[in-house]
Amino acid sequence: MPEFTCHLFVCCNRREPGHARGCCDPEGSGALKAALKEALKSRKLGPTVRVNEAGCLDQCEYGPTVVVYPQQIWYGRVTPADVPRIIEETVVHGRILADLLIPAECLNTKGRVGWERRPG
Ligand code: FES
Repeated sequence: MPEFTCHLFVCCNRREPGHARGCCDPEGSGALKAALKEALKSRKLGPTVRVNEAGCLDQCEYGPTVVVYPQQIWYGRVTPADVPRIIEETVVHGRILADLLIPAECLNTKGRVGWERRPG
């Protein structure tokens, strides 16, 4: 059995509308997770790359949030439209997408440090 090379956790947490921290999947559609899974399937990466639904990853202010292990790459404000780049650049080639990257100094700050996605 081949080893996993990459594991993506996708926050699919829902909170009530108006919650101070927001949430990553307000409609509960799971669209981001589904798009990632479909992209892996179409690229035949399934045996070595996994996508899993996660509960709150505690980076809510920057969501929708995806973290890529083992590299510990945190992406924020991710949309299904970003999925092809995440798969091609980060999963396949190991490149970090600067426009999606949540800076290390913003992680675990519960909104005390601002970050907005850079134009791609
Ligand atoms: S709700 Fe997604 S990181 Fe908290």
